[in-house]
Amino acid sequence: MAAIRASFVLAAAALLALWCSDHGGVVASDPSHLQDLCVADKASTVRINGVACKDLKDVAAEDFFFSGLHRAGNTTNKQGSAVTAVNVAQVPGLNTLGISLARIDYTSHGLNPPHTHPRATEILTMLEGSLYVGFVTSNPENKLFTKVINKGDVFVFPKGLIHFQFNYGTTDAVAIVALSSQNPGVITIANTVFGSKPSIKDDILAKSFQVEKTVVDQIQAKF
Ligand SMILES: *[C@@H]1O[C@H](CO)[C@@H](O)[C@H](O)[C@H]1NC(C)=O
Repeated sequence: MAAIRASFVLAAAALLALWCSDHGGVVASDPSHLQDLCVADKASTVRINGVACKDLKDVAAEDFFFSGLHRAGNTTNKQGSAVTAVNVAQVPGLNTLGISLARIDYTSHGLNPPHTHPRATEILTMLEGSLYVGFVTSNPENKLFTKVINKGDVFVFPKGLIHFQFNYGTTDAVAIVALSSQNPGVITIANTVFGSKPSIKDDILAKSFQVEKTVVDQIQAKF
């Protein structure tokens, strides 16, 4: 009896392994939701891929609401740009829905520096002003695609690729971006490479960037 049970368990495990290799969790965006709502329960300590759902009786219209995107972000900073994010951190009702957005403000000569969203494609709509935008494909091509975009224009930054926006104009620029994740994440290249805590050893960065260690130390000191 025990032997039969053991072989049944083995067969079930083999089937599961086969199914997993076939359906190996490869999805093109956030996993699709299996219920109407899964409003993020910020108080929950349950760790899942996403955020645990609130009890439906505690869900309110406020969970799907954000106000203030008519206001410009504060661009008084070294880059001259400001991102006002509206993702699951601000709107709990976005949990499991695979979508979010942001307002980006750029002062004259403001830059949204090279960065990537590990979990989202981004689509940008120009509301005011002009931008020089671009993204670079992965190795080995590292091909740069750029364009100058004006009011009413739309530009796409494919998922995971390094991209930037620069306001070369003399007036402020404003864009709204939509992202294909409730939690797109941001990896700003300069900050992660030169501003990590603790720092990446300067001899490693010197060799990576083919410069003297003093150059690396100089850049790291700015973060
Ligand atoms: C904008 O940010 C700068 C730098 O942090 C700060 O000095 C200034 O008070 C901020 N302005 C507003 C309106 O919040």
